[in-house]
Amino acid sequence: MPLHVLDHPLAAHIITHLRDQTTKPATFRTLAYQLSLLLAIESTADLPTEEKTIATPLESMTGSVLTHQPLVVVPILRAGLGMVQPFTDMFPDVSVGYIGLERDHATAVARSYYCKLPPLTGRRVFVIDPMLATGGSASNALSVVKQHGAINPTLVCIVAAPEGVAEVEKSHPGTTIHTAALDRALNDRKYILPGLGDFGDRLYGT
Ligand code: PRP
Ligand code: URA
Repeated sequence: MPLHVLDHPLAAHIITHLRDQTTKPATFRTLAYQLSLLLAIESTADLPTEEKTIATPLESMTGSVLTHQPLVVVPILRAGLGMVQPFTDMFPDVSVGYIGLERDHATAVARSYYCKLPPLTGRRVFVIDPMLATGGSASNALSVVKQHGAINPTLVCIVAAPEGVAEVEKSHPGTTIHTAALDRALNDRKYILPGLGDFGDRLYGT
């Protein structure tokens, strides 16, 4: 499965501060934005381009521009909201869909509570969720976007556990995953180690 782990000193710097338990929500949100911006750039590196001839103030030249292919970004609520803005900043025409999933505290099984998606057929779809733990939420969301017409959706996360990567590989073979970090394992409560704790709680101060 194509698993891409960010390999950049700035990404390593940012994620270290993001993990730090003393980092407060306001800073956490800024760091999440910065990492997601790096991920947005990395995960769209294969977007198609086409030639365009323009005139600079000095002469004409042929450059390249993005081929018009509508992008859709689908955050998994609620933590995924912390990754949306870099995509909308970099791709102003992007459409945003929402999938609400919440893990049960006892079983860690994700329960669906909301779904609102734009048309996905013929569009490049990015499912975004900072934490890939058991992989249950991501697999569920990938199934939903495929049922709505997405072909080969890309998964973008900030911290992935090997168990989550394996689950996505099993349930959605061939899915491209971009992550800022691949961590060691899950603990017995299905939290990622070393991880950063509960992303949604840290993002929103809950
Ligand atoms: C977190 C996280 C993922 C999910 C990952 O969400 O944002 O969606 O857990 O875990 P999994 O891979 O085991 O499914 P949570 O359910 O805590 O909801 P929240 O975003 O509302 O905090
Ligand atoms: N969800 C989180 O927010 N953190 C984890 O470590 C696992 C799931």
